[in-house]
Amino acid sequence: MSAVTMDAKSVSAPFSAAASIERTVPLEAPFFAVKDVHAYYGESYIVQGVSFDIRHGEILALLGRNGAGKTSTLRAIARLDNPSLHKGEIWLDGQPLHKMKSFEAARAGVQLVPEDRRIIQGLTVEENLTLAQVAPGRGWELDRIYAHFPRLAERRRQEGVTLSGGEQQMLSIARALARDLKLLLLDEPYEGLAPVIVQEIEKILTEIKTLGITTIIVEQNAVAALQLADRAVILDTGEVAFTGTAQDVLDNPDLRQEYLAI
Ligand SMILES: Nc1ncnc2c1ncn2[C@@H]1O[C@H](COP(=O)(O)OP(=O)(O)OP(=O)(O)O)[C@@H](O)[C@H]1O
Ligand SMILES: [Mg+2]
Repeated sequence: MSAVTMDAKSVSAPFSAAASIERTVPLEAPFFAVKDVHAYYGESYIVQGVSFDIRHGEILALLGRNGAGKTSTLRAIARLDNPSLHKGEIWLDGQPLHKMKSFEAARAGVQLVPEDRRIIQGLTVEENLTLAQVAPGRGWELDRIYAHFPRLAERRRQEGVTLSGGEQQMLSIARALARDLKLLLLDEPYEGLAPVIVQEIEKILTEIKTLGITTIIVEQNAVAALQLADRAVILDTGEVAFTGTAQDVLDNPDLRQEYLAI
């Protein structure tokens, strides 16, 4: 009998009471994990066995060429109907997202900010935020949101869809914070924005990271995303081509050229 087995036996006896408590995930499990996820749009096999994990409070840059499957991976994590999950597990803070529908995943703390931002027409900035607070699992109060987003405070009575692109992006991030946010999924948050506005959003994302929000950022502007992120995953035709630190990618010209064209 090996020493490992004997050790395992000797420690299990004193903790037998604790062992009877059902644990859904091992204690050392990461805060968020995607395990061998396969997802389809109808017959089209798009997300082909993706795995990665994130520690609490980290920012992960999810990168790759056009059509690599970045948006599809975010949608699968948020448990939207398409692409549909055929295989794999998705865990957030001990909760099995793979067993949930999208509204349950939102309640569990997953908030997807899609590329088109989805500001609700006919509602002011403040109404967009208060509507988000109606959803179960309340997040930040308005005062706290406005303290971090002074531009939104100034425009609180303005119709949300009349904001500039950068302000709409801020509103959609703020709306995620108004809910019970554990994992923020950002799809191309810098798209179409001037560099000065990108910097403002980077500052906000850095601030909310220090407050313990875990983030996945998908961005065509890979350098900006990598400068913000702790770690990076590069997708290629629906599979993980690279996992490592963001700095590893910044320092590796071959990797950058092959998968990111930067
Ligand atoms: N609704 C859909 N039905 C069928 N195929 C789709 C659908 N949406 C995306 N796809 C396909 O899935 C693949 C991955 O698309 P996805 O949008 O996830 O890529 P992406 O990495 O986000 O690309 P981009 O950088 O252009 O946003 C592509 O081949 C795309 O054509
Ligand atoms: Mg996309």
